[in-house]
Amino acid sequence: MSADNGKTVKSEESTFLDVRDLTVQYTSMGSVIHAVNGITFQLKKGETLALVGETGAGKTSIAKAILRILPDVSAKSKGTVIFNNTDLMQMKEKEMQKIRGHKISMIFQDPMTALNPTMRVGKQISEVISAHRSISTEEAVAEGKKMLEMVGIPAERYYEFPHQFSGGMKQRVVIAIALACNPELLLADEPTTALDVTIQAQVLELINDLKERLNTSMILITHDLGVVNETCDNVAVIYAGRIIESGSKYDVFKHPGHPYTNGLFGALPNMNLDSDRLSPIAGLLPDPTNLPDGCAFAPRCPYVTDKCRQGTIPAVEVEPGHFCECIRMDEIRKER
Ligand SMILES: Nc1ncnc2c1ncn2[C@@H]1O[C@H](COP(=O)(O)OP(=O)(O)OP(=O)(O)O)[C@@H](O)[C@H]1O
Ligand SMILES: [Mg+2]
Repeated sequence: MSADNGKTVKSEESTFLDVRDLTVQYTSMGSVIHAVNGITFQLKKGETLALVGETGAGKTSIAKAILRILPDVSAKSKGTVIFNNTDLMQMKEKEMQKIRGHKISMIFQDPMTALNPTMRVGKQISEVISAHRSISTEEAVAEGKKMLEMVGIPAERYYEFPHQFSGGMKQRVVIAIALACNPELLLADEPTTALDVTIQAQVLELINDLKERLNTSMILITHDLGVVNETCDNVAVIYAGRIIESGSKYDVFKHPGHPYTNGLFGALPNMNLDSDRLSPIAGLLPDPTNLPDGCAFAPRCPYVTDKCRQGTIPAVEVEPGHFCECIRMDEIRKER
């Protein structure tokens, strides 16, 4: 067990990321935005968890809170993020810098702007390597070239600038940067959304391949159920900053418990999802500055009762490892 400067916490042996009761609030123009409202989940080594949900549900905020890269002034986060038995939330910033891009790295939602246009692409990779390992410049360049080749780009292109690369190639470079230090955990925020379908497939294959080779665990944020199906083991459905349903992808797709998940996934006839996107559901997410009491989905739910609008909705275990926050789940499932 490592002590570092963080709080040392015992966690289940095989769980190497244990997020508990995570909250994120932003303050904007005098209002408090309740973006993440008590999220708890665990991730094992080599496992991939998908975070799915509508725009504004809080997915990116969860990833940024784990990596502690939320804006200092306007955002506040609470909870515990136990990574390799150490609570990242208690860690000193200096220690946290050694974790970022080294043990945990992130592929950002808009990869096209993640590269520095004035710096050679290869250097952007070897810089990350040099920052975390004491190796010579020559060795860092050699490693950078190796990473380029690993993502399917010839080593001689190391000296080119981002504008000389296509969108798909830039995305591969962003992935190479994120993987340059063999992170134990990869946070991938919509890594393929900006790409066309053929390149999307190649990039996914690449991520899967690298994950297998390096045994990297991953939290994958996506709107694309095809991506979930191809890449993930487990799914967490995010609604108004809460996990309203979670479990293995098979259980959540096949027997969704929550009316919201059913709306998103239920229309799908089978697991052969290819490029199916989440189905739109009538209505909008509640105002995050003024969340309703009870279930946040109640205003849009066709099964709503008065009881749904009161207190905190507890999570029930639908089947082993499959959880759902809906008090009417049993009746609703019988009706379906
Ligand atoms: N820097 C910020 N300042 C103020 N509010 C923010 C900030 N970042 C996010 N929010 C708000 O927090 C909530 C959650 O946003 P977040 O970006 O985490 O959602 P998301 O699920 O990643 O959405 P998308 O699918 O569009 O990327 C939203 O209401 C959003 O407007
Ligand atoms: Mg986002």
